[in-house]
Formats: sequence, C-alpha cells, structure tokens
Amino acid sequence: MLHRLTLGRIPAKPHTTFHDEDGRLLMEQMVTRQGFEGPYSILYYRTPPTDEFEVSPLKLPGFCPFELVKEQPLHRRHIKTQDLRPAGDYLTGRRTLMANRNLQIGLAKPCEPAGRFFSNGDGDELYFVNEGSGFVESVYGLLPFRRHDYVLIPKGTAYRLHLEGDRGTLLVFEGRPWLGIPGEYRNRWGQITDFAPYSHRDFRVPTELLAFDAKKHKVPFELVVKQADELSVHRYQHFPLDVVGWDGVLYPVAFSIHDYQPKTGLVHLPPTIHTTFAGEGFVVCSFVPRKVDYFERGDSRAIPCPYAHSSVDMDEILYYVEGNFTSRRGISSESISLHPQGVTHGPHPGTYQRSVGTERTDELAVMCDTYEPLRLTTTASGVEDKDYHLSWVRHESPGDQAWTSK
Ligand SMILES: [Fe+2]
Repeated sequence: MLHRLTLGRIPAKPHTTFHDEDGRLLMEQMVTRQGFEGPYSILYYRTPPTDEFEVSPLKLPGFCPFELVKEQPLHRRHIKTQDLRPAGDYLTGRRTLMANRNLQIGLAKPCEPAGRFFSNGDGDELYFVNEGSGFVESVYGLLPFRRHDYVLIPKGTAYRLHLEGDRGTLLVFEGRPWLGIPGEYRNRWGQITDFAPYSHRDFRVPTELLAFDAKKHKVPFELVVKQADELSVHRYQHFPLDVVGWDGVLYPVAFSIHDYQPKTGLVHLPPTIHTTFAGEGFVVCSFVPRKVDYFERGDSRAIPCPYAHSSVDMDEILYYVEGNFTSRRGISSESISLHPQGVTHGPHPGTYQRSVGTERTDELAVMCDTYEPLRLTTTASGVEDKDYHLSWVRHESPGDQAWTSK
C-alpha cells in the first residue's frame, strides 16, 4: 500500500463499460481492504477471475500445516537457519519457524523452478531476500528484485516468485491482518514524511503486465490459496492473470535494505528507531551500516553497544545478514536469535566495554519485535543451538569484538 499507480489501460470511470481490442466487455475486479472502507485497487480481466472448475485441499507440511513444539522453556534461543537444506520452490520449500496470532516467520531456500502461483489470504507477506535475485510475477505485473531487497506482497495477491538459477535464501514474514508502512511515517495526506527513513522514490513497483505464455503458463492453471492456515488448489481452464490494466494503491513493491536511512543519536537510541515496516503487534526493523552514537564531554563518552535490557512486553528476534557480528560466538549469517520477553538480554561479555570509542558499525540485520510471544515450530527446534542461552556466562574471549544494536 503506497501511492496510487496505474499500469496498462483503464476506463475513465470505475464501474463503466470497458472493452478489449476485439470489442469484448472486460470484467472489472475490485480488491478492497477493511470491507469497502480501506485501500483498494481495481483490475480489468479478459476472462472473469471467478471460473475455477475444481478446488482441492493441499498440505505442505512444515509450512502449512506446521507443528509447534510442545514445550518451550523460557530462555534466549539461537536458530541456525544456515543448517536448513535447500528444498522445493518459493512455496513448496517454505518452512514456518515461529508464530503467534499476528505473525508467522518462515524461511525458504528454493532449488527448483517456481511452480504453482500462490495467494495468501491470511495476511500481507514481506520477503527479505538474503541471497538471490529474480522477479515476482503477479496479477499486478512483473516486479524485479535483487539481493537484500524487501518484497512486500499484499494479502490476496496471486503471484509466483522466480529466482535467478532457481536458487536463493528468503526470509518471509506473514503479518495478520496487515504488514506495511507504519502510520507514523505518513502525513495526514498519506504521503511518506520527510522524517521517515525512506521516501516514495525508494520503492520499486511492477513494471509491465503479464501476458499468457504457453511455455511458462500451464493450463489448467493452478493457484494455491492460503486461508485460515489451510491450503486449497484452485484450477482454471484459462490463464486467470490476463489483466489489461489496473489502478489503485494495493500492489507489490520492492525496497532495498541499503536504501534505508538509519538514524544515529548523541547517545544510544532504542532499536525500534530502525523500524522499517509494522503490523498488528509487531515491527520489522533494519540494522544497516552507519555511524554510531557520538556523545563526548570530558571523560564521559557514549556507549554505542546497547545496555542489557528487559523489554518486558516484547519478544525480539534478529536475523543476521552480514557484518561485524560474525566474530560473535556461534552466530553467523542466517542465524536467528530469539530473545523472549520475561528474561533480560544484553551484549556478550566484554563487548559493552570495547564498544566505547568506536565510530561505525557495519552490521546488516533484520530485527522483529512482537508483543505476543513467539512459539517455535519443530523445524526451528530441529536446527536450534541448544546451548546459546548459556553463552553469556562463559569466559570472555578475545574474539568477542562484535555487538549488535539489539
Ligand atoms: Fe533488545
């Protein structure tokens, strides 16, 4: 949900006659949020998008359905997603790692060409592309993406995600009922403010509409739909994404984490200063390379490394991408730490002191804070570093130079 965009041909007024090149009446479709009160887009189809001839259930174990661990003792956790093996495509290889009522966090490491299209009826989806590049093929057109992009796909969008060489590493957030640009980053006219950490110009939008291609699009066409954590396959005799034009504010966008404009304070600012996206009861933040806190008066200096803290209302997860955390014990790219509410967390021994006087951090990471506790799935538990929560009490090591902003 961003600014109004038009792609292709549309009639002068909504809900009026509009024909294709052969004089056939096109079918209009409104995609609306919050009933008819919220943001919307209007699309024009060559064939009505309602004539599926068959519907059948589908299960993709590990993604939908997933299994939560039965017992989850309260302590800090380290999920080693780097140990998950590539599997399937963007959809069949997706695995849910943790969940609460408002949020599901998953991971996909595809190694096959994208097969069926997918529409998530449970919430908006936010991909973070840790590895790979490619494009999203959706009812709104083609959207190219690159490594380290976020790709935001509105709830109910029929799409398919293609990766160059059919390989990549994708972190996926499913926000219920929504996930998008925080309200405080917009003015009363809906424009992104100059105080926000990005501008409208940083978001890339679909570039061209899809056209049916017999080599790429099989008939009958299959669309997998997720609703209430159940999957169904809808089959069509025609290509149901043959849209001649659309306009509106709902459509997929891509945003590079490297275009995020971080804020630095005189003294340390809370990690949520790096908020990038938000949903019901959670935020997604971007930690990017930047100058750090710069207070200096007499012998007193800013401490850039965050203090130990008890964020007693929030779980905090951090997905490590690259940067100076790599010397942190046990942590490497693709690690996810989960620091749950109820227990204190803070820097590893020695790093707090050593951060004084540093001027820059080169960390690159994606953080997510949630009000409702996250539960691990059996997939996450299967790649968990079970001793992580004890790593604070071990002896200080010369290798512990690294800290994160979390
Ligand atoms: Fe924290």
